[in-house]
Amino acid sequence: MTEKLFLFVSGSQSIFDSATPQAERIKGITNGFIVAASVMLLLVIALTIYISVKYRAKKSSAEPKQTNGSGKLEALMVSVPLALVIFFFFWSVNTMNAVLPEVGNNMPGIVITAHQWWWQASYPGTKVTTANEIHLPAGKKILMQLNSADVIHDWWVPSLGGKMDMIPGRVNYLWVTISKPGIYEGSCSEFCGLQHAWMRIRVVAQSPEDYDKWLMARAANAVPPADTQAIAGAAIFMKATCGDCHTVRGTTANGTEGPDLTHFGSRQTMLAGMLDNNAENVNKWLSDPQKVKPGAHMPRFIFSKESVGALAVYVEQLK
Ligand code: CUA
Repeated sequence: MTEKLFLFVSGSQSIFDSATPQAERIKGITNGFIVAASVMLLLVIALTIYISVKYRAKKSSAEPKQTNGSGKLEALMVSVPLALVIFFFFWSVNTMNAVLPEVGNNMPGIVITAHQWWWQASYPGTKVTTANEIHLPAGKKILMQLNSADVIHDWWVPSLGGKMDMIPGRVNYLWVTISKPGIYEGSCSEFCGLQHAWMRIRVVAQSPEDYDKWLMARAANAVPPADTQAIAGAAIFMKATCGDCHTVRGTTANGTEGPDLTHFGSRQTMLAGMLDNNAENVNKWLSDPQKVKPGAHMPRFIFSKESVGALAVYVEQLK
């Protein structure tokens, strides 16, 4: 029923398209608030119209009966809002307890670290570290650990449940049990600087078998470059200190400031959802990062056109 009622707000990044039991609980209380607030609003509008019409100025009108100091009316006006506040207070606490259970001794299934302006995802117990496109298995209860590398960011994928701040020096957690495979979008929800708006999240929920396959493939080291241009690109990459900030596992590049590029070519988008991931966009980005994403921490290197082209070929074949 609510699906139909709130059709106009469903779709990407809508809390009404809940895909986890946690998001389902949040949707329930949101609907409760909407219904209660709508009833109150309609009541106030109806009474305002009724009173305006009934007691409008008339030639013959005598002063209406005064109700000032009516104990009954005051008791009603205090007790109804109070009852609503108490009702929603307990519903809220109940919902919070349901969506944020104890972490206990559970190990996180994924560790997400927010950076200005991208998301790093590591999978404990594996060598896998990726960025922005976050793969998770559907149907499994996953504990997500949320950290920040610099300023306060905020994780929010509305279909998957609650928002959670990511605070430097603190560790926060969320539980998610994604009901079915699919792509769930979200964004950073705490202003974190110039490119806050381009800090999109893309959660790719896969069947456990597909997820295991994905994880296995990502655990492998980077493929060595095969064609001439890619080999040239790899040489420039290593020489131009790209590896001080980026990791390409299986090479000497092991920096951790920027996104891990070991399997960069297998991602759909780049720059936290800003552009499609293809050689043309990598070319644009490497030619002038500040023009593409002003404020980004990627320095501008003065490369020749040929070098940029070779670098783009190299990173794109890192599938
Ligand atoms: Cu990160 Cu806003």
